[in-house]
Amino acid sequence: MEAWLVGGAATVAVLALLTVHDLVQRGHSIRRVYPLVGRLRYLLETFGPELRQYIVTNDLEERPFNRAQRSWVYQTAKGVNSAIGFGTQLDPSRPGAFHFLPSAFPTLHDEAPTLGEAHVIGAGRPRPFAVRSRVNVAPMSFGALSAAAVRALAVGAAEAQCYINTGEGGLSEHHMSGGGDVIFQIGPAKYGVRTPDGAMDWERLAAIGALPQVRAIEVKLGQGAKPGKGGILPASKVTREIAAIRGIPAGEPSLQPNRFAEYHDMASLLAFIERIKATVPVPVGVKIVVGDPAFVDELAAELARSGRGPDYVSVDGSEGGTGAAPPSLSDHMGLPLTDAIVAVDNAYRRHGVREQVTIIGAGRVSNGADAAFVLALGADLVNVARAFLFSLGCIQALRCHTNECPTGVATQSTWRQRGLVLEEKRSRVANYARALQEDLMVVVRSCGLRSPAELRRDHLEIVEGVGQRRRASWLYPYPADEGVHMRDAA
Ligand SMILES: Cc1cc2nc3c(=O)[nH]c(=O)nc-3n(C[C@H](O)[C@H](O)[C@H](O)COP(=O)(O)O)c2cc1C
Repeated sequence: MEAWLVGGAATVAVLALLTVHDLVQRGHSIRRVYPLVGRLRYLLETFGPELRQYIVTNDLEERPFNRAQRSWVYQTAKGVNSAIGFGTQLDPSRPGAFHFLPSAFPTLHDEAPTLGEAHVIGAGRPRPFAVRSRVNVAPMSFGALSAAAVRALAVGAAEAQCYINTGEGGLSEHHMSGGGDVIFQIGPAKYGVRTPDGAMDWERLAAIGALPQVRAIEVKLGQGAKPGKGGILPASKVTREIAAIRGIPAGEPSLQPNRFAEYHDMASLLAFIERIKATVPVPVGVKIVVGDPAFVDELAAELARSGRGPDYVSVDGSEGGTGAAPPSLSDHMGLPLTDAIVAVDNAYRRHGVREQVTIIGAGRVSNGADAAFVLALGADLVNVARAFLFSLGCIQALRCHTNECPTGVATQSTWRQRGLVLEEKRSRVANYARALQEDLMVVVRSCGLRSPAELRRDHLEIVEGVGQRRRASWLYPYPADEGVHMRDAA
């Protein structure tokens, strides 16, 4: 028989079988009523995000990052021309738009080098951390990310003199493979520093804190995408290697408690931080999502009163990303980064201890203007998570929680990780990091400043509508000026 005839008959037979299966199955109503064609709906739903990206949405529409933002990362990572032609596509009068105030006398390149003075975290600690780059890699665990992704980030970040943060999945050889600075994060399950019965393994923590490459320890109180909820890693992502690093069984979901057992109020939190400080020589920080600003005010008051508290506060905006989270928390919990940074910066200023603490901000930063915005509002450093994933080839398929990330970035499937070639992607990470550092300095120089540390709320205006704009220092007054604009308005 002719081959095409055999092929045709086989295809018809498969389609007939699928039709019968659809008619008799009970799980999907659409397929029971519309056998075979009903499957198209599920297929299109599965590939919906990618299809919309290709044929439906314009450059500024997609979320959380639009195509224009992603393209800038892709282009800088590949080292190709990332300039835009013909002018901005953004409407400068839309509410929420921001612009910096350019100086008539911009700073010359030589007067403001890209990597200027380092920012020191924990100057009073036995081993302070001099951070070379103002923009660094945010916490993302090995588990949420693949080994290939963590390695490429670790090597690329080290090349660009950025630190990486382990995230809450423990410390792996992949994090150390770049030889650069590493911040070790501890989540409520204390992966990597937990005893078999789930208590804190202080000896193990001391050993990690003594590693020369580990430059700080971070206690994760909260994360913007899921405040009040512990990390979630689906069973499909808990491989034997990940289970061994975390100290949990393989093939079962890794669900962290939503708070450390070690603290439950300010006094016990401070005692926990102080004990960590007594165990390791490096600075100790906390990662938080801001809710009621009274909490950060109390944190700052305690530093002023007793000298106790974290060496740095890493502030995650509610717009922050995640490997997996419940939508109600991602969509409706916590302050956005703008308000959160101001609350933390003002709290430490109000109590006269701003110089003793470092503030790090994270929340949908992808280019230099975004980073400058966060620094101008009150941060000293900026953490970047998802934009670094774009530099690795992430296409925003929104499937980090499924183990089916098509680009090998947020999956443990070895087959999918084949797509992520270390030699290629490490240089993309480094290229993007350097471009981001330089893009930040382009804004800094244009404002007539010499360092990102000089950016203030006075350099920034936020648009409220056509013809209506406010200095950020008016919308978000520094403590000394609090109440001034109320008088203005009266
Ligand atoms: C895949 C992925 C994994 C993450 N894992 C962690 C984590 O282990 N610990 C943590 O504190 N934050 C985690 N985050 C949040 C990021 O550190 C960061 O705070 C947040 O995404 C905001 O930064 P971005 O807007 O630049 O993405 C993760 C984010 C992503 C996208």
